[in-house]
Amino acid sequence: MKNNVKILVVGSGGREHAIAKALLQSPHVAAVFCAPGNVGMQNDGIQTVDICELAFDALKGFVIENEIEWTFVGPENALVAGIVDSFQADGLKILGPNKRAAQLEGSKDYAMRFMEKYQVPTAKFATYQDSKSAIAGLEQFGEPVVIKADGLAAGKGVVIAQTKQEACLEIKLMFKKGQKQIVLEEFLDGDEYSLFVLTNQKNWRVLPLAQDHKRAFDNDQGPNTGGMGAYSPVPQLLESDYQKMLTQVVKPTIAGLNKGKYQYCGIIYIGLILTKQGPKVIEYNVRLGDPETQVILPRISNDFFTLLDTCVNELELPQIKESSQAVLGVVLAANGYPKEPIKNQVLPVLNKTDVIDIDYANVKSHDEAFMGNGGRLLTVISQGDNLIQAQKQAYQYLNEFDFDGCFYRKDIGFKATNYKF
Ligand code: AMP
Ligand code: GLY
Repeated sequence: MKNNVKILVVGSGGREHAIAKALLQSPHVAAVFCAPGNVGMQNDGIQTVDICELAFDALKGFVIENEIEWTFVGPENALVAGIVDSFQADGLKILGPNKRAAQLEGSKDYAMRFMEKYQVPTAKFATYQDSKSAIAGLEQFGEPVVIKADGLAAGKGVVIAQTKQEACLEIKLMFKKGQKQIVLEEFLDGDEYSLFVLTNQKNWRVLPLAQDHKRAFDNDQGPNTGGMGAYSPVPQLLESDYQKMLTQVVKPTIAGLNKGKYQYCGIIYIGLILTKQGPKVIEYNVRLGDPETQVILPRISNDFFTLLDTCVNELELPQIKESSQAVLGVVLAANGYPKEPIKNQVLPVLNKTDVIDIDYANVKSHDEAFMGNGGRLLTVISQGDNLIQAQKQAYQYLNEFDFDGCFYRKDIGFKATNYKF
């Protein structure tokens, strides 16, 4: 086995903090760099590199100069822009799907057509290039109706319109803001789950299941966000429903990737809703989720470097060893997020404990502390023997502090525990 390995993680959020930390725990790994990373990661020995995730040439230069073994890509923008193709063209090892495969996240319309072609259960949908035909198309859907901008929007390009009037306004607004194409979708009713599959050309493995909380405020109110908190496992899900997700959704998805010759290497994130008719996909992402990563990686007992090294080298993936611990993460976001997040709020110093860890995102240095830089600032991660314990610890910890200029949801995990704080 390789030793003294150096790895580069591309990205700068809580997800990348968790990935870099998990890689550093491996005895095979000597150093983990994160580009551009964030200052909060440095507390954990992660070395940040001041190169933006879209500066492919500069990233490749860094990789060559520092003899990096391989690169792991966190965020979708780099994947959709073709970072994998760019690295591979220069013979550099990189973990993530290529540009063609990344369209599964980059275009809602592309993803829906893929699902149609490979018979993956999803919502009824239609795609429009102008507001007049989209408004006429509303007739087919009833209310509520889901309106999606056809491009990357960091979880913020989706509106669930409750009335036809609201739908008309949103459609007009999206085109006015410069959207070229939008997708209308049937509203799916049920609980939402985040399912992650690690795959290469040899085989695939399902990672621990998580549930995210997409709305900004408690009781699933407010606008959609990138995610305000997550937990794993999801004990209230029946085993029979989980098996349906595997057979009805994961299998045809992987079969489609193979039949379509996508040469998919990396993570496919399947966002699905368990409806009365069974699981249906609402989105594919071509990466790990944020904040889901922060709660699923601590539950994977495999050596994380070895697992990913096997994947990038197109070898047979080992079984995933899932720990029995429960992990729950609460996101601290800037006031105004997701629409107009404020910046420069000074954060209290957050020390780790035996059961609490912190994954930083949009922070910058301020004297001995950190200051918010807009959006999601950090995730508080709590680990316990069960979710009730993990949830209690997370909120007891958060309660100790006054967070000026930021907010967090008080009900992360309530669907599993029935508790809100
Ligand atoms: P997306 O960017 O496609 O993941 O959508 C963001 C969020 O909107 C999802 O996480 C869901 O909570 C919600 N959503 C998206 N599509 C649907 C749908 N067809 N039915 C109900 N909710 C949806
Ligand atoms: N937490 C949702 C996402 O990463 O897209």
